[in-house]
Amino acid sequence: MSRHVSTDPDPDVESRTIADEYRLFAERQARGRSPRYETLSLGVAEDERLLALLRELPPIKRQPNLLLAAARHLGAPVDSSDGFRAWVIAHWDRVSSLVLSRLTQTNESARCATLLPLLAALPQPLALIEVGASAGLCLHPDRYRYRYDEGEPFGPTDSPITLPCRTTGPVPIPRRLPEVVRRAGVDLNPLDPSDPEDAGWLESLVWPEQTERLERLRGALEVARAEPAHLVRGDLNETVGRLVAQAPEGATPVVFHSAVLAYLSPEARARFTRTMRGLPCRWISNEAPDVLPAVRDLLPEPPPTGRTTFVLGLDERPVAFTGPHGEHLDWFAGARLPVPGE
Ligand SMILES: C[S@@+](CC[C@H](N)C(=O)[O-])C[C@H]1O[C@@H](n2cnc3c(N)ncnc32)[C@H](O)[C@@H]1O
Repeated sequence: MSRHVSTDPDPDVESRTIADEYRLFAERQARGRSPRYETLSLGVAEDERLLALLRELPPIKRQPNLLLAAARHLGAPVDSSDGFRAWVIAHWDRVSSLVLSRLTQTNESARCATLLPLLAALPQPLALIEVGASAGLCLHPDRYRYRYDEGEPFGPTDSPITLPCRTTGPVPIPRRLPEVVRRAGVDLNPLDPSDPEDAGWLESLVWPEQTERLERLRGALEVARAEPAHLVRGDLNETVGRLVAQAPEGATPVVFHSAVLAYLSPEARARFTRTMRGLPCRWISNEAPDVLPAVRDLLPEPPPTGRTTFVLGLDERPVAFTGPHGEHLDWFAGARLPVPGE
């Protein structure tokens, strides 16, 4: 007699997994950055009804950042867990359909402050190719002003934004901006900086208290609208080789990405690594430690615990820890910069 073994996931186990994800988000990401998001995500983690609604969504769509952005985008109050809970339950049809139609595509131009020391040290000019580009705001590193620690800001004086960055270690603060001759990118869903709907969604992805980030986003969108990048729709694994091949002669092709590989399956990440190793380009990665094992395994020290931290790498060699939104750059003693012509 054959026994039927149910493959349906156990709802209690699923709810616990979702609750853990919301707790982790509250403690590791929102704490110290967004008190409201910390409170709301802890509230979701404790709420059986909201957890049951989240269970109706595909696992990839249950992320805290996505739910919180979608609810806020539609007008949910975020000042108390009770108000948020009641509103989300009452408007679940609209919230869930926005969650299903949108992705978390937070595009943070301030990450350019952590990429800049590497970009400026490479042989110029550069053909930039960003994989997972969102609206392409990181494709304009030469159009922003920068301020490292308390130093003098530098960069174009007419830039609408200045990107602040705290540093530790022997950061090679750049003396020049990179010369960019091509700005290209790929995304599963490229956002158009000129489209009010896309720009509005990007605004909703900025956390509630982060008014500086909101101002920065608006300034970066202005920059991107003035000089549109060549953004194509597609999967990075399928597209990156073609974009590298399109780099103008005489320019250094630089493929870079930040906060992207976590969205890929381990197999897709491994494929990307293999592809990149075979391409005639430089490779700058700025990702959570575990998503690129080859870079993680060369870390000179373990990543800090209790906070989300990215690792900045050049051609698979780690050079620094970075803040996930570009807030800080902690350079490793002894990390080598590329030698021009290398
Ligand atoms: C969190 S956003 C980061 C955007 C940008 N790199 C930044 O640092 O501001 C991640 C982006 O990766 C894109 N993405 C995820 N998986 C992808 C894939 N397989 N191919 C292309 N883009 C992908 C998403 O659509 C999203 O726009």
